[in-house]
Amino acid sequence: MKNSELVVIVGPMYSGKTSELISYVEIYSLGRKKFKAFKPLIDDRYDKSFIVSHTNTKVEAVNIKSPEEITDYIDGDEKAVFIDEIQFFDESLKNIVNKLLKMDINVYCSGLDLSFKNNTFKTTTEIMGYADRVIKKKAVCHECGEYNATISYKKPDEENSEIDVGGFEKYIAVCRDCYEELKQKENMAKLFD
Ligand code: ADP
Ligand code: TMP
Ligand code: MG
Ligand code: ZN
Repeated sequence: MKNSELVVIVGPMYSGKTSELISYVEIYSLGRKKFKAFKPLIDDRYDKSFIVSHTNTKVEAVNIKSPEEITDYIDGDEKAVFIDEIQFFDESLKNIVNKLLKMDINVYCSGLDLSFKNNTFKTTTEIMGYADRVIKKKAVCHECGEYNATISYKKPDEENSEIDVGGFEKYIAVCRDCYEELKQKENMAKLFD
């Protein structure tokens, strides 16, 4: 009987997903347990070889393009695997995660549940389905100041793709009401363009 656990940390940008993921890494590293951390190659915001939070805490990580690459780095005696920014991976991530769990390796994933268009990210949704524990984080709404932000709002620009790496220069975290207000203002501005 395997006791491995899948923990998934989701929420909008700045909600503390990466910080929480790193706090779990610390438990393994303080306990001198073997683990490996991964992040998608596309996320080049701070440092390619580290998972980095907005408060600059960091953990060394392997850069991968596709989830299948994870298995190449696994020896089998790891106690845990950590994966940040799971929204950027394709849906094959679920196969790899389930394979790791079968090997009795705990898996900790974090990523965005919603895009700036308020659509769900498919890979995150699927991984949440397999989770033993889902930790849903909130951020402080940039507009009203309440601790109830669930969506990332993107300041209007030419890039329309739901995959667009960036930070404060592009995105803020907002609550549902403020999101609607900002969208209405955007539509009004377009009318007068
Ligand atoms: P995430 O990975 O979810 O984007 P991080 O763990 O990298 O989050 O960063 C969380 C940190 O971001 C918080 O501890 C706080 O210092 C900072 N921060 C910046 N803006 C906000 C906000 N609007 N709400 C909450 N924390 C914020
Ligand atoms: P964060 O959740 O750790 O702050 O990082 C989220 C990353 O995802 C950041 O590089 C911006 C990017 N992003 C998208 O690609 N599409 C989106 O819809 C949103 C909200 C963020
Ligand atoms: Mg993060
Ligand atoms: Zn608000």
